[in-house]
Amino acid sequence: SDLSLSDVHNVLEMARAFLPVFTSPDSMNTAPSKCFPLLQGQVVANVFFEDSTRTRSSFELAARYLGAEVVNFSVQTSSVKKGETLLDTAKTLQAMGVNALVIRHPQSGSCQVLSRQISPSGLSILNAGDGRHDHPSQGLLDLFTLQDSFAQNQLGSIKGKKIAIVGDIAHSRVARTNLIFLNLMGAELHVVGPQTLLPESVASLGCQVHTHLPSALTGADAVICLRLQLERQKSGFIPSLGEYTKLFGINHERLKKYCKPHVKVLHPGPMNREVEITSAVADDLSLSLVTQQVTHGVAVRMALLYLTLTDSSQRQDISVQPLTGDFTYVS
Ligand code: NCD
Repeated sequence: SDLSLSDVHNVLEMARAFLPVFTSPDSMNTAPSKCFPLLQGQVVANVFFEDSTRTRSSFELAARYLGAEVVNFSVQTSSVKKGETLLDTAKTLQAMGVNALVIRHPQSGSCQVLSRQISPSGLSILNAGDGRHDHPSQGLLDLFTLQDSFAQNQLGSIKGKKIAIVGDIAHSRVARTNLIFLNLMGAELHVVGPQTLLPESVASLGCQVHTHLPSALTGADAVICLRLQLERQKSGFIPSLGEYTKLFGINHERLKKYCKPHVKVLHPGPMNREVEITSAVADDLSLSLVTQQVTHGVAVRMALLYLTLTDSSQRQDISVQPLTGDFTYVS
């Protein structure tokens, strides 16, 4: 929330420059080299106190594509199980030469508290999702994906676009982060879900709040569908999964009936197929941006690691040549 619009553009532009490192063939038309060793000699530790597939592997690949060493710290088999605090864990890893910690933690605010406690020791903290609070790298990759899709379809920028965020708003750090970033970009935001999954405070994040799906979807340019976070819910939030799907499930019929013809669908994953989204929509390449989100996530995390682990005075001027996708760096 403390990033300015120009900070955000800076991250997105850098991510765009990094994308060809692992997606485009090099100039000899062979496989992408997948290594742009700007972070050689740096060590990144993934410290995940909650399950993750894509965020963890995405940060790991991002670090490796930039030539950094990666340690995957396994909380399940560590001294955290013996009661070691997050601060002691961080200091221990730092004493071994780790330069950055990528942390996912069930406690909202944990990354911010740790970064204050640890500062100014030179250890960087990247938030990979803290409780229901925030998921900055996901928010940025969603912006990248929306920006890219609107541009490719000659629809201009995110500014003024109607974006509906659908589902379990109460438990979703992705929803909160998306609201902050999309407001910064000037989108018109609508959130919708069952009353029990809509916290009262959500309107203060700058959105219109609905409990009726069609009113949120009407005229939408993009729909961000959220996972029903059953593991964070006590019972009683929804009468049944079937009823949830009936009232809030995203399917072809609803998208066609209410949204703009060019509508696109995003989902941060993991998906509960046939609950919040039909498989037919999730796998429809003309509608779904789920795979692009995953690819863009690696590029965005490369940018975040690079910006975090280098001093602005040492940074290379990285530029892309859009026609070929080749990248160059100029010192
Ligand atoms: C999200 C998360 O963990 O907050 N997933 C992700 O990082 N891709 C959303 C979720 O778990 O539903």
